[in-house]
Amino acid sequence: MCGIVGCILKDKQKSVAPILLECVENLDYRGYDSVGIATFDGSIHVKKDKGKIPEVDEKLDLADMPGNFGIAHVRWPSTGIASKENAHPQLDESDSIAVVHNGSLKNYDELKGELIADGFKFKSTTDTEVIPHLIRKYMNEGLDLEHAFRKTIERLDGSYAIAVISKEESNKILATRYQSPLKIGISDDAYFISSDIPAIINYTRKIILPAEGEMVILDEDGVHVHDEDGNEIEKEILVIPWTAQMASKGDHPYYMIKEILEQPDAVEFTLGERENIQRIVDDLGDIKNICFVACGTSYHASLTGKYLLQHLAKIKTDVVLASEFKYTADTLDKDTLVVFISQSGETLDSMNALRIAKETSPTLAIVNNIGSSMTEEAKYTIITQAGPEKGVAATKTYIAQLTAIYLFAGLLANDEKLINELYNVPGYIREVLKKSSEIEVLSKRYSFADDLFYLGRGFSYPIALEGALKLKEISLIHAEGYASGELKHGPLALINHKIPVIVILPPGSDYEDTMVNLEEVKARKAIILSICAEGDAKAECKSRDVFTVNSKVSETIAPLVYTVPLQLLAYYVTLEKVA
Ligand code: F6R
Repeated sequence: MCGIVGCILKDKQKSVAPILLECVENLDYRGYDSVGIATFDGSIHVKKDKGKIPEVDEKLDLADMPGNFGIAHVRWPSTGIASKENAHPQLDESDSIAVVHNGSLKNYDELKGELIADGFKFKSTTDTEVIPHLIRKYMNEGLDLEHAFRKTIERLDGSYAIAVISKEESNKILATRYQSPLKIGISDDAYFISSDIPAIINYTRKIILPAEGEMVILDEDGVHVHDEDGNEIEKEILVIPWTAQMASKGDHPYYMIKEILEQPDAVEFTLGERENIQRIVDDLGDIKNICFVACGTSYHASLTGKYLLQHLAKIKTDVVLASEFKYTADTLDKDTLVVFISQSGETLDSMNALRIAKETSPTLAIVNNIGSSMTEEAKYTIITQAGPEKGVAATKTYIAQLTAIYLFAGLLANDEKLINELYNVPGYIREVLKKSSEIEVLSKRYSFADDLFYLGRGFSYPIALEGALKLKEISLIHAEGYASGELKHGPLALINHKIPVIVILPPGSDYEDTMVNLEEVKARKAIILSICAEGDAKAECKSRDVFTVNSKVSETIAPLVYTVPLQLLAYYVTLEKVA
């Protein structure tokens, strides 16, 4: 995912580049392969290249650029390879219009053809480069920057958050969005635009949320938001309850470990949403069907939600990957609650699905990012209280999503026993975290692997999927999460003495069946690490290694606790690999 930032400092003598650099560093969790900054002090200065921020900074000294305002970008390529030319900002031919863009344009080929026929020369292979050329074309036709930008936007088909500066109309930053996130920040000394709040939280907690199609103009006098017809409009200023300290790494070496350690608090704070969730449950009345929609880790939380709602509340529940949603959309109706699970509240596939679902059905968004697009568009919202998550891999927001889903299912099913059990979860997680050194030791025995399998049944199946995803994403080791009963239908053939198999074995009704599957992989000499309950002598005897969890953690609430050692395993195996 690309990320954009813009800042205008009220004091003309001050240099904005160090601030822009710090803000794009805060966007690095989105994943990127190039970085760039444009500042203005009478002419536009640009420094950009492919590579990680520290490398590019060492080469180009990104903080050393003149001017009190500018824009910056981290790029995750969607159109065009990672290269200096393709890094943003993208410029017009005279280097007097600079543009940063997050999103992708479907019709850039057609626009590029038209611009080339008009004599414009392209330096990059990005979709974005059509934007500065179109603005230039319309300015050449006599329009001012704002009108040229508006006319350009009308030509674009796709998703975008765009920020523009121009030499001709200096001292302002123009920005707009469609299907990509954009926030405005206001501090005593500066005005900001940003793809997300954590990027600018060191400078301000006062945020404005521009709607799609609105035009944002930042200048030294303030923030102006114009509607699609060009009329200035009043926007509400929100004060975000996150602090710079919450978004900082503190003394931890990586965000991932900081956020794993924050999970007991994420559960406790999310349990504080109980009254809000009860209100939603009361308002919903009788729901016949539920359909969860999500991507990645949030999809795994949704799968747990399906098992819970069907098992406890006896409500027919589907789970759909957001990118595959169109094949389900036609079956929705007013009696189906469509639940969107998302850390960011911005994921494009989920947003597209939400827009379709809300035409026919009541919608609920369970998201972590306050003020995100999903909170604006869904009928009901539950904010998970994990605080800002900056690690690339979702950890504490996943456990917070699960907490919100368990509360929702518990309240819907009127299951006091389950709800009371949730209040013990922070304690169970703390016990796991206290033993993280055991996982650190285990990681040395598993970091050699090229392939791993994670097996779980019932509520432990999503745990297996999530454990495998975390390992793949962070350590780059191939891992597969499998429903343990399904392994014999093909992939068992892959198991041999070189393959570690992580078996999720909480106590409960699925235990014995999973044990049969453990025996199957043991018969093929797999290296078995079982995550099981304290005192589980059988698992200890049949596995090479075990990591134990409080025996009071039932299979039903296992996803909230058994996932944590697997997050730690992914983290420590990765450290071991890079050591
Ligand atoms: C994995 C991870 C991703 C996200 C996915 C959905 O660690 O973070 O799989 O879960 O991209 O993102 P959200 O939850 O923001 O919609």
